Amino acid sequence: MSERLQRALASAGFGSRRSCEELIRAGRVAVDGVPATLGMSVDLITQTVTVDEREIVSEGIEYWLLNKPAGVVSTADDPQGRRTVVDCVPTETRVFPVGRLDAATTGLLLITNDGALAHRLLHPSYGVEKEYEVIARGRVTEATARRLSEGVELEDGVTAPADVHLVSVGRNSVLRLTLHEGRNRQVRRMLEAVGHSVVSLHRGRFGPLTDDGMFVGAVRRLRGPEIENLKRAVYGDDDPHAKGNEA
Ligand code: URA
Repeated sequence: MSERLQRALASAGFGSRRSCEELIRAGRVAVDGVPATLGMSVDLITQTVTVDEREIVSEGIEYWLLNKPAGVVSTADDPQGRRTVVDCVPTETRVFPVGRLDAATTGLLLITNDGALAHRLLHPSYGVEKEYEVIARGRVTEATARRLSEGVELEDGVTAPADVHLVSVGRNSVLRLTLHEGRNRQVRRMLEAVGHSVVSLHRGRFGPLTDDGMFVGAVRRLRGPEIENLKRAVYGDDDPHAKGNEA
């Protein structure tokens, strides 16, 4: 939702509206990296506003991207006391992971409190792509890669067609798998079904989000254009928060 910049700054604790106007006039405020002007409107959900290069956060919806390290669990609470993905996010807001990665899996996980978006991103009918890099034990043949791509029988049904690229074959093989569904432990079970165990598994892409420039363990807030792309992936042109579309 858009609001006047000086009002957004005042509610984020930068003093009276008048002193916020001074900050803007002094050139200390930027919106999406561009110096702000007095009277402009901002949407703190989709735009990044900084004061002296420090980002101010909306009290509303938050979107975080974590490049999950191994050993961290995807639940909000772990009875065994292990570190959770929510512990990795520096926020006081109650956020939750969109889907899950196994404890041993590394890679991208979106963490948010936007329940409607999470629901759509996880719903099979939207077919949001997830790209995995897998190191599988043993020599994976082209024929096996084709089987994985056409669909393999798992206990909860045959997997949907997937893009499978055999990157290298040796004592272990490296594959890149792009899935349009997200069942529990799907990649590991697919590989097991064709006779290979998984040595390591990393998710490098979730829909339009990639791990470019993010080391494993890094966490950051999504930037405005990234949030818009993510929403476009599931809402198309019906994005309820899109500019000009507000109720
Ligand atoms: N598939 C798996 O087997 N594990 C994951 O963590 C993600 C996809």
